[in-house]
Amino acid sequence: MARRLAEVDSEVAKALHEEAQRQHRNLELIASENFVSEAVLEATGSVLTNKYAEGYPGRRYYGGCEVVDIVEDLAIARAKELFGCEHANVQAHSGAQANMAVYFTLLKPGDVVLGPNLSHGGHLTAGSPVNYSGKFYSIVAYGVRRDTERIDLDQVRDLARQHRPRLIIAGGSAFPRAIDFTPFGEIAREVGAMLMADIAHPAGLVAAGLHPSPIGIADFVTTTTHKTLRGPRGGMVMCRAAHAAALDKTVMPGVQGGPLMHVIAAKAVAFKEALTPEWRAYQQQIVKNARALADALLARGFRLVSGGTDTHLLLLDLSTRNVTGKDAQEALDRAWITVNKNTIPFETKSPMVTSGIRIGTPAVTTRGMTEAEMTVIAELIDRVLSKLGDSGVEARVRGEVQALTSRFPLYPDRVR
Ligand SMILES: Cc1ncc(COP(=O)(O)O)c(C=O)c1O
Repeated sequence: MARRLAEVDSEVAKALHEEAQRQHRNLELIASENFVSEAVLEATGSVLTNKYAEGYPGRRYYGGCEVVDIVEDLAIARAKELFGCEHANVQAHSGAQANMAVYFTLLKPGDVVLGPNLSHGGHLTAGSPVNYSGKFYSIVAYGVRRDTERIDLDQVRDLARQHRPRLIIAGGSAFPRAIDFTPFGEIAREVGAMLMADIAHPAGLVAAGLHPSPIGIADFVTTTTHKTLRGPRGGMVMCRAAHAAALDKTVMPGVQGGPLMHVIAAKAVAFKEALTPEWRAYQQQIVKNARALADALLARGFRLVSGGTDTHLLLLDLSTRNVTGKDAQEALDRAWITVNKNTIPFETKSPMVTSGIRIGTPAVTTRGMTEAEMTVIAELIDRVLSKLGDSGVEARVRGEVQALTSRFPLYPDRVR
């Protein structure tokens, strides 16, 4: 029983070591990624992975749950304190399942849902035809305005009046601008719809008071716990007390079986970290860094969707430089700068090619980088994209990336 991973499975152990080295060496700019603390990693890799705990604290289907009850109660209490919500379900395995839990609580197949268009910044689970949400429900999509590239609230209102949705969704994966939930709430009330805010991306900013909060406005709020929130990979749903019993029943037994108690323990740890002043300062730095990076890229002639950012992410429109998102992602990858290709509003290319890339600052900010490093990162990106495919430039940038990241050590014990 006492044998370590390296003795049991050298191939997986080697791959994990290589991944730790890659994470340390590369500039991680994927807006949905972050680096959790050693404490969160420890909880995720704990003995709680062994425990079945179907049900909720104090009412489980299995024996031996007295310890995991403590852990889940801590996670729930901290989530409620962090976001100021009446009820939190911390069992959703992922963001997609958190959204599914809300849909299954509120909707019947065929019901009308008004949600954000995927290529305008929405997420797959808000009605994409390739996702369960698009297959089960009758989806009406709203987007951003052509001139401002910000959410078109007039369109949201018009579509809501015309289609009388049962549910309206606010929030997505690639909105660089803050979302004001108040008008969404007004529109939902006017047409008798429920409102779900998916804050998977800005959740950390919301918790730190740096982005408008949907709590008290939306009927349900879903999030992932692993993006700006900097917890383990997972999901969470918050709602008013009146919906608590229905929501809990949908999560389990409705769409999930046993909760991942090791992940719930890690959520509890991450929420505890998030309740500290240091964490709030970290969230502030994420936003400052995103603005600094936006300014530096604009100064180099890049076009940003909506002209800038209020959050942790930027969306670069590379069509003005005749570069596709795919080619940009691959070239930056070769230079050890990690981003993802992303569709932009009114996209003309396929999702596998795209006209844009999405860039986020949560992970580099976790490493301690500040505005000065953002200026350097903008320069490195510019050099690679200005000489697309030039292996000499890519090699030189790789060297500079390594020099930069080595100044901000990540998981030193795992990288050695
Ligand atoms: C807005 C939004 N909702 C839901 C999800 C789904 O989360 P997960 O990947 O954990 O299923 C994501 C993930 O990127 C997201 O950005």
